Amino acid sequence: MENITVLLSEEELDAKIKEMGERISRDYAGESVHLICVLKGATFFMCELAKRISIPVSIDFMSVSSYGDSTESSGVVKIIKDLDKPLEGKNVIVVEDIIDTGRTLSYLLKVLSHRSPKSLKLATLLDKPDRRVVSDVTVDYEGFVIPDEFVVGYGLDYAEKYRNLPYIGVVHLQ
Ligand code: IMP
Ligand code: MG
Repeated sequence: MENITVLLSEEELDAKIKEMGERISRDYAGESVHLICVLKGATFFMCELAKRISIPVSIDFMSVSSYGDSTESSGVVKIIKDLDKPLEGKNVIVVEDIIDTGRTLSYLLKVLSHRSPKSLKLATLLDKPDRRVVSDVTVDYEGFVIPDEFVVGYGLDYAEKYRNLPYIGVVHLQ
């Protein structure tokens, strides 16, 4: 069994996501944004973020998996489920749960930039900069910078468990 301690409470997450939504609404005033949710971890964050954006929003989903070792992403990403709609001319914001090594995002942003979006930005709820191995990932909208610990909740899982926790917790193996 694992023991989980609270790192970010539901109230802290709510307040931060509200702020992020307001910033996005200001930055794109008079336009619309197209949110791309990276399944499955980012689903909870994307829903809450979308609710806090006051300009027109459309959403799409993408599922990727990295080849090789499952605990350390390899950087070679396989698209399991692609987007339903083209990105041409859209203000695209990729929505992620957490950026760890950055390999997944680095690959994904490269792929999406070739689909002629009007603009392409990145929003992440959590960032673990200590773990970064790529240098070409710029976070435009960042929730929380967290230490190098394995976290769960708010969409993030440990072996598919704990996604439904309404807070972010640190996993302690017992
Ligand atoms: P990377 O940035 O390519 O290393 O991969 C990031 C992905 O690894 C995230 O989208 C998560 O799915 C997963 N991940 C990284 N750190 C954690 C964590 O602390 N808890 C749960 N999943 C994590
Ligand atoms: Mg993920």
